[in-house]
Amino acid sequence: MPAIVVVGAQWGDEGKGKATDQLGSQVDFVVKFNGGNNAGHTVVVGSEKYALHLLPSGILSPGVTPVIGNGVVVDIEVLFQELDALVARGVDVSRLLVSSAAHVIAPFHRTLDKVSERFLGKRRIGTTGRGIGPAYADKINRVGIRVQDLFDENILRQKIEGSLDQKNHLLVKVYNRRAITVDETVEELLAYAERLRPMVADTSLVLNEALDAGKTVLFEGGQATMLDVDHGTYPFVTSSNATAGGVCTGSGIGPTRIDRVVGVIKAYTTRVGEGPFPTELHDDMGEFLRTTGGEFGVTTGRPRRCGWYDAVIARYSARVNGLTDFALTKLDVLTGLEQIPVCVAYDVDGTRFDEMPLDQSDFHHAKPILEYFPGWTEDITGARTFEDLPANAQAYVLALEGMSGSRMSVIGVGPDREQTIVRHELV
Ligand code: GDP
Ligand code: IMO
Ligand code: MG
Repeated sequence: MPAIVVVGAQWGDEGKGKATDQLGSQVDFVVKFNGGNNAGHTVVVGSEKYALHLLPSGILSPGVTPVIGNGVVVDIEVLFQELDALVARGVDVSRLLVSSAAHVIAPFHRTLDKVSERFLGKRRIGTTGRGIGPAYADKINRVGIRVQDLFDENILRQKIEGSLDQKNHLLVKVYNRRAITVDETVEELLAYAERLRPMVADTSLVLNEALDAGKTVLFEGGQATMLDVDHGTYPFVTSSNATAGGVCTGSGIGPTRIDRVVGVIKAYTTRVGEGPFPTELHDDMGEFLRTTGGEFGVTTGRPRRCGWYDAVIARYSARVNGLTDFALTKLDVLTGLEQIPVCVAYDVDGTRFDEMPLDQSDFHHAKPILEYFPGWTEDITGARTFEDLPANAQAYVLALEGMSGSRMSVIGVGPDREQTIVRHELV
C-alpha cells in the first residue's frame, strides 16, 4: 500500500494530525502538499502535546522523512521557529526536505492578509492572518517568490521588485499604509537562505523514486474539503486545494500512484472563520460540544463554531476525494447525550436536497433535516475494539457509515495515539 492520502472531510480540525501521527510508525515519508502555517494540528503522545502548523505531523515519528511539497506556501521564519521548538524537545528534524518549487510567504503577504480582511468588513473571510491567500494569489498571478529564488540575490531582488510594484500602490493609495521597500524584503529573505539550503530538494523526484522502491508515502492534507478553493464553500475557503486532487499538483506525483484516500471526519462538525454552516448550533448544545470537545483553534485560539454531524457533507467529501475510508474522530465527545441528531439532508425553502446544492445561495439557506439516534452514558475512552463500544455507540457509527459514502475504518475515542479503534487497517 505505497501511497496513502489523509484529508479533512469537513471544515478542518477533524484530527488529521493525530491520524497522520498514528500511521507514522508504518510509513517512510509524510508529505504536506497544500496550505501553510494556517494549519494547526495537535498531536498527543503520552504526556507530551505538540502543536504543529507548517511541518507535517509525521515529523514526530522517528525514521520518517518529512517533506514540504511544492504546493505549500512556506513562511520560513515560522519554519525555523517550529524546527527549533521541536529540537528543544528532543525531536530529530534532520531529515526534513523542502521543495525548491514551493512558494514563500513574504512579510508583505501577512500585511496584505490583515489589511484586506479589514477592508472587506462584514464580507471578510475570517482568515488566520498568516498571509496564505496573498501568497497563493501571487503564485497564480505569476509574481510569486519561490524557495529556489532565495539562493540568487539578483533573481530574488527582481522577483521582489515584480511582486511589490503593484502592491505598494495598493498599500499606500487604497489601504493607507506605508510602502514596503524591496531592500528590507530582500534582506529578511536572504537571511534565511544559508540555513534553508541543505533542506531544499527536488521533492517530486525524491517521492517518485521512493514509491518506485516500494516505500510507503503518506500525504497529509491541511485544511479540509469544505475549505478547498474549488470544492469548498467559496468564497469562504482557503486558497489551496485541500482535497485529494491537490496531492498530485502539490507534490509532483501522478494520480495512478495513489492507493488509498482517508477522509478524517468528526462525529460532529466544527468550523472556524466565516461562511455557511447548516448544522451550526447557537444554543447550549453548541456550547456543550465546544467545551467537551475543547473546540478552540490551535492556530488562532478562536472558539470553533459547533454543530451536528452532516451526512450530506460526508457524502460530498467521499465523492470529491474518492475516499476509500473514513477515520471518525472524537466519538467520546458525544458521551452523555440522551440522543444524537444527525443531518441526513437539507431543506431549502421547502425543497429537499440529499446532495450538496450546486448553488451557493441554496447552501446558505439550507436547514438541516435531522434524524435522532439514541446516545450512551458509558465512558468509551478506554475502548480499543469496536465490540468494546456500547451498543448505541456502535449503532451510531454504523448509521453514519451507512449514510456517508465510505466505510468507517478507524474510530477515535480520545486525543492520545492509543485511544483509537482500528476496524480496517489503513496501511
Ligand atoms: P487537525 O487540524 O485536523 O489536525 O485537528 P486539530 O489538531 O486542529 O483538532 C483536533 C483536536 O482533537 C486536537 O486537539 C486533538 O488532540 C483532538 N482529538 C483528535 N482525535 C480525538 C478523539 O478521537 N477524541 C478526542 N477527545 N480528541 C481528539
Ligand atoms: P487545519 O489544517 C480550520 C480557515 C480560516 C478561514 C479560512 C481561510 O488545522 O484543519 P486562510 O488563513 O487559510 O486564508 O483562512 O480557512 N482555515 C482553517 N479552519 N482548520 C484549518 O486548518 C484552517 N486553515 C484555514 O479560519 O475561515
Ligand atoms: Mg487544526
